[in-house]
Amino acid sequence: MKQFVDEQSQAIKSRVGNNPVLLLISGGVDSTVVGALLLKTLNTDQVHLMYMDTGLMRKNETAAVRANLEKLGAKNVHIIMCENEFLSALAGVTEPEEKRRIIGDMFITIQEREILRLGLPEDYFLAQGSIRPDFIESGLTVDGGKTSVVKSHHNVASPLVDAKRKAGKIIEPLAELFKDQVRELGRFLGVDEAIVSRHPFPGPGIAVRILGEVTKENCDILREADAIFIDELKNRSSSITGKTLYEEIWQAFVILLPTRSVGVNSEGSTSERKYGRVLALRAINSTDGMTANVYPFETRDLLEISARITGSVKEIGRVVYDISNKPPATIEWE
Ligand code: XMP
Repeated sequence: MKQFVDEQSQAIKSRVGNNPVLLLISGGVDSTVVGALLLKTLNTDQVHLMYMDTGLMRKNETAAVRANLEKLGAKNVHIIMCENEFLSALAGVTEPEEKRRIIGDMFITIQEREILRLGLPEDYFLAQGSIRPDFIESGLTVDGGKTSVVKSHHNVASPLVDAKRKAGKIIEPLAELFKDQVRELGRFLGVDEAIVSRHPFPGPGIAVRILGEVTKENCDILREADAIFIDELKNRSSSITGKTLYEEIWQAFVILLPTRSVGVNSEGSTSERKYGRVLALRAINSTDGMTANVYPFETRDLLEISARITGSVKEIGRVVYDISNKPPATIEWE
């Protein structure tokens, strides 16, 4: 790690010189680790960190992102509030790749507008936290070759990123690394353990976890349920290892389905039928996200978590657990 950091720091310094660097922060492990590396390597005035509150993030994410960046010594933190723009662009859209395309384009449009507003010189460098699987699944190799597309990752190929890449103005220090290596690097750089051990989160956010249309109401329902699921995982531990279930699991999240399912009221009377939303829980283990195994919960944990979710989020009438490995399923549902 020391050698990796020394080499990357040298490379970044000699390429960037005194030019500004803009890092797009998602709040996850990858971009935060790049932020820590840039802040350690360059003058803090040079480093601009831009985060978009797209309305597609997890509960209380924006406040946490700001606090974490400031803790890492960041001075130029630009938080862009753009929930309405994202949700308007996604209205009526249900097809997963179309959602990704719209979100990717929206990121670029807003980013370009906000960069202009920042007044950065045209030859600023763009830094990103793209890691090796992002390239592989987008059908690109790190050196620009092509493989087959599994799903497009907007941070790998977009007009701005392509232009910056062609101009030699892109900085992607994690491009050769897998997730577990990024975590190791984060620890080495002194990034908070809570961030380093945070589960991966996709660039398009909860938009690809809401099957069907992404509305504010759907986002809020999903966010509430997701926060409960994660809270439960942090407060339960494995009877075998003693670690929390959150630590035991590589990635866990909820998926909101576009269907409704019949249910009864809390007294069990069938005379008052209601049609509640269906929520799926996903929890998998993996080393790099390329393959994944379903986490074998103890039944009691699943039952209690389900009961807390249906008891707290009134819109949800039914909870199911996804028992599909990757392959054949992917980790996300879209
Ligand atoms: P899949 O669903 O492809 O997920 O098995 C593998 C890993 O990648 C994440 N993922 C994404 N990350 N943009 C991202 O930045 C995306 O469009 C995207 N799709 C999936 C997923 O959460 C998992 O960790």
